[in-house]
Amino acid sequence: MLPQEIIRKQRDGELLSCDELEGFFSAFLHGDVADAQMSAFLMACYFSPLNMEQTLAITEHFLRSGTRLDLAAVQGALVDKHSTGGVGDKTSLLVAPIVAAAGVKVPMISGRALGHTGGTLDKLESIPGFSTQLAPVRFMQVLERTGAALAGQSDDLVPLDRVVYALRDVTATVEIPSLIAASIISKKLAGGASALVLDVKTGSGAFIRDEARAFDLAGLLVRVGEHFGLRTCALVSDMDQPLGRAIGNWLEVVEASDCLQGAAVPDLMELTYALSGMMIHLGGKARSIPEGMEVAREMVRSGLAWERFLDIIEAQGGDTSFVRETLRYRNADSMVEVCAPHSGTLRRIDARMLGLLATEIGAGRKRNGDGIDPTAGIVLWKKAGEQVEADEPLCRLYSSSTEALVQYRDRALAAFDVGYGQPAEAPLILALVTPEGIQPWVSHHV
Ligand code: URA
Repeated sequence: MLPQEIIRKQRDGELLSCDELEGFFSAFLHGDVADAQMSAFLMACYFSPLNMEQTLAITEHFLRSGTRLDLAAVQGALVDKHSTGGVGDKTSLLVAPIVAAAGVKVPMISGRALGHTGGTLDKLESIPGFSTQLAPVRFMQVLERTGAALAGQSDDLVPLDRVVYALRDVTATVEIPSLIAASIISKKLAGGASALVLDVKTGSGAFIRDEARAFDLAGLLVRVGEHFGLRTCALVSDMDQPLGRAIGNWLEVVEASDCLQGAAVPDLMELTYALSGMMIHLGGKARSIPEGMEVAREMVRSGLAWERFLDIIEAQGGDTSFVRETLRYRNADSMVEVCAPHSGTLRRIDARMLGLLATEIGAGRKRNGDGIDPTAGIVLWKKAGEQVEADEPLCRLYSSSTEALVQYRDRALAAFDVGYGQPAEAPLILALVTPEGIQPWVSHHV
């Protein structure tokens, strides 16, 4: 196989056979296709999409590139959750302990920061000592002990996704539905889940911004999951403004910890309860999604979810004293306040602009293999729809990089649209997509 010939065929829209695709990806994993060649191939996939048969073939190939955890010995349903990627989306940190506390096991295989969006692994690793590289035996021990285990792709688990994912992160090749499906579904199958709840984002901060295309992606993910015997359903949710108020790894751990202890962050908790309710229902601990959502709320109200979070951190080697007393964490070296130029209503916050900015000031990677600054990120002081006075803070930027943070102030300000009149009301959760079809989400409200 000549790699350049495979790239050319994909570029020109010729149909590659499943064997050709598998051969190309295998060669990449074994170092016989260079990063530059895989990057060119991925870009060709953006312009000449893979079809369903090819998508299923690469999903299976990703899965077979490593071992598949056999969790048959673990009692009860195994339900995982995954998002297609958002800004400030720390729901995985919340749903894992909530759902585990409700008695449903959560074997979660997550990813790192991708493009302008954050990654659960990077967030968890900002907790001193926390390890997301768990050997299969340890993964199962943590799962048995705490009801949830959160790990990443490794040399054992979906190694092909690990290397392709890292390259997509830095080559503007994330926005490819077939690769998103292969990446997510192979991880979930490898982790041993029997059911999966997806959060498919739409809006400026999502990879697939257009609403109709986000629904197509949700449908594709559900079909690919179900094809492999994974019970799969998806929420389609709005990612036009960041979720919650914190963007950046440690900052998001702090916000998630606060919410598990009862802090009110309405949009973040609305989505958290919806996803948790679906997982608890799929896991057989509630007769309906609304009942599952009520169970989820009770897990937070009672403090059980917070205790479970601490158990998970401890079981994965993390130092819980930092999340118990978040002020113990080292501060970012610099902070810059971004203030409103005039008074008015905050009509919109561009999630994508802030996601890119957070990446640039250290919360994500610019090149494959770069380190991450756990303290870097953005805290929003205002959310869309709120009133602001002239010179009132809209957000704060944090970073420990040596670059002067003040140079980013104008770019941050450009993400905020302060004007007159309320923004149009838009629901956070648009719909539920199942193998049976699309249902409006409003019918699942308690
Ligand atoms: N999450 C993943 O794991 N993979 C993608 O491609 C996008 C989001």
